[in-house]
Amino acid sequence: MKHAEIIAKMTVEEKAAILSGASEWESREIKRLGIPAAFFSDGPHGVRKQEGEGDHLGLNASVPATCFPTAATIANSWDESLGEEIGKALGEEASALGVDVLLGPGLNIKRSPLCGRNFEYFSEDPYLAGKMAASYVRGIQSQGIYACPKHFAVNSQELRRMAMNSVLDERTLREIYLTGFEIAIKEGKAKSIMTSYNEVNGVYANENEHLLKEILREEWGFDGLVVTDWGASNDHVKGVACRSNLEMPAPGLDAAREVLAALEEGSLSMEELDQCTDDLLDAVLTLAKNREKRVREFDREAHHTLAKKAARESIVMLKNEEKPFQLLPLKENTRVALIGDFASVPRYQGAGSSLVNPTKVETMEQMISSYPIQCIGTAKGYQRTGEADEVLKKEAVNLAKMADVVIYCFGLDELSESEGLDRTHMRIPQNQVELLEAMAKVNSNIVGVLSAGSAVEMPWHSCCKALLHGYLGGQASAGAMLDVLTGKANPSGRLSETYPVRYEDTPAFKYFPSTERNSEYRESLFVGYRYYDTSKVRVQYPFGYGLSYTSFEYSDLRVTADGVEFVLTNTGKMDGAEVAQMYVCAPKGKIFRPDKELKGFAKVFLKAGESRKVQILFDDKTFRYWNVETDSWEKEAGRYEICIGACALDIRLRETLEIEGTTDTMPYDAEKMPSYFSGIIRDVPDAEFEALLKQPIPDGKWSGELGMNDAICQMYYAKSRLARMIYKILTNLKKKSEDKGKPDLNILFIYNMPFRGIAKMTHGAVSMKMAEGMAEVVNGHFMKGMKKVLGGFFENRKANKEYEKKLGTGK
Ligand code: BGC
Repeated sequence: MKHAEIIAKMTVEEKAAILSGASEWESREIKRLGIPAAFFSDGPHGVRKQEGEGDHLGLNASVPATCFPTAATIANSWDESLGEEIGKALGEEASALGVDVLLGPGLNIKRSPLCGRNFEYFSEDPYLAGKMAASYVRGIQSQGIYACPKHFAVNSQELRRMAMNSVLDERTLREIYLTGFEIAIKEGKAKSIMTSYNEVNGVYANENEHLLKEILREEWGFDGLVVTDWGASNDHVKGVACRSNLEMPAPGLDAAREVLAALEEGSLSMEELDQCTDDLLDAVLTLAKNREKRVREFDREAHHTLAKKAARESIVMLKNEEKPFQLLPLKENTRVALIGDFASVPRYQGAGSSLVNPTKVETMEQMISSYPIQCIGTAKGYQRTGEADEVLKKEAVNLAKMADVVIYCFGLDELSESEGLDRTHMRIPQNQVELLEAMAKVNSNIVGVLSAGSAVEMPWHSCCKALLHGYLGGQASAGAMLDVLTGKANPSGRLSETYPVRYEDTPAFKYFPSTERNSEYRESLFVGYRYYDTSKVRVQYPFGYGLSYTSFEYSDLRVTADGVEFVLTNTGKMDGAEVAQMYVCAPKGKIFRPDKELKGFAKVFLKAGESRKVQILFDDKTFRYWNVETDSWEKEAGRYEICIGACALDIRLRETLEIEGTTDTMPYDAEKMPSYFSGIIRDVPDAEFEALLKQPIPDGKWSGELGMNDAICQMYYAKSRLARMIYKILTNLKKKSEDKGKPDLNILFIYNMPFRGIAKMTHGAVSMKMAEGMAEVVNGHFMKGMKKVLGGFFENRKANKEYEKKLGTGK
């Protein structure tokens, strides 16, 4: 133990109390022993430090900070050094704003394009997500701040996020959903990690021994701080036993009393409590020390400039038709019409706990005059939400008629992408499409400038002669986009996720989001390009795709036991960067595999005409698969194909390499699993899924009365009329906020929160017993429930006072 001396001085009440938060954003201090509190803040693409009362989802505005592009955007840069630079800037801002632990980066896997938080996550591919996350972690932590990768693990759905169970086989868990975290922990050396809300195979992530002890601590050697997501603790004692060190935000002393009771009963040992306390002490003491080296200010302009560079490096050019001539880059003095509401009110970040109060926001409308093109006018074109507005539409079409080129700014609106809700389709608002179609009839030179944090369907694709995707580019995205439009910069972003033609084509279409308690990951490894490539499904834009104003040639591949070497040449007329991608295709053997998997990449900047030798090394992940029989990483013997390409569907060089196997124990019977061996996984029968799980599919049906882990939105089924009324009121409030075009995050949070959350999120005012009473009232046992609520209220108040006295914090 690192802090045995301090632990020896702590009372058992102090140890139990320190393992849960004191307020929305702080851990508990113990003044008597000089144990300081640590301050936590979101987040992933900018610091959200609230002043005054914290309220979790941001009713209280936060202090201004740089809003960098979101993770989904930066992932398109495929540039780890850029990730590290952003991380460093985030760390500096955290330091200047008095934040110790930054709650990010987010790196859950984009299992479906519909997950409402995809804009906060990097990729559908764990290798890319892990590498980018590790780069952020390195940058943030270089400033003495702890990064906190989240949400560990298998948290790929927002619907009932606090009350759902991700059911998946061990191999899929390891290869797809944990590999990114493994990289962030082992390579990034993250010092803290956040557990997710959901269950993984029937056990809440925060009390999941397999995840937290066996994998995170024992296998990956993590010795940092495990923090719950806000309200993600189900059973605090079980969490402590798994070395989850800090329950956030502030469950009150009820949680501490549970620890004391467990010690007494023997379900928790003093060693376990001490170990958990030791991890926490190590973090708060290190962070307090780091505070001495803190910067007091950050350079707003320099960070704005970095945010612009980051946005620019991440822009993906999806289309630039050659015939009769390429529109992009725009020629000098081109007469352009700037159309679309996003040109004046940009969409540059998503909603939820990651929402940053930017230091400033630039718009294309303001900035276009400083570029060498002639803007003949701007038009709003459409309303953010609702039906087409004929007046706005007409005005825009008239303007479009007069221009050489139309720059059309469009995409997903605020309501489409938010924490707390999943999208229900992949379309952009119909009124924006109608306007685009109307403009295409009067002007064929349309450049689409898309803003969206996640993949969208593009049935309107042919209306745009050129298409740039800026994702959610942060506060400086407008200038970045204009740099690329005018050729001041060469686009070098490549898609970090696949764009399917239709939502119906996606691998998890039938399984996502779960309608019952269980979300069955029947598609297994076949997420994103792993599915489309294997099953030969045509896509709109493949993984890794993006165009450039120049062209690149790949040649002279040499494969050795350590890695690959090849020559990359910029064969065009403009300087620019290429993202060379290394995919590995395993032999068709006894282990089912996706057609190819990303195992390395390099972003290379080359001057026009320049050639360079590029090296990509193999690592422990290049050939491995998780063997569920030997319970370890193995290699299958055979001849592997090493492919170097410009995207998953554009392989330029190939070579093979013989690899020795590491075991003869094979886990699968191919005859029993034809879906998995063919990759056609959209309709996996129960028997095959069971063969994959190696156990019966757990029953996930909601039944009977509502329990502590059922979500408030399920009061729809409540026996009590009062509860059904409350459900209706909440639903109306939710709808009202949706009609206004902006999600109300606190309502969404309550909506998806289970009953236990009432105790966990009320800073000690409600105990678990009171929350249980409430659930009973909802189930129609009014008297019995109210007795618990009222009795619990007085008991809780008294017990809190007594405990506070023991801590020396009472009034
Ligand atoms: C989110 C986390 C966030 C936390 C604190 C939760 O609702 O899931 O990502 O860090 O709130 O704001």
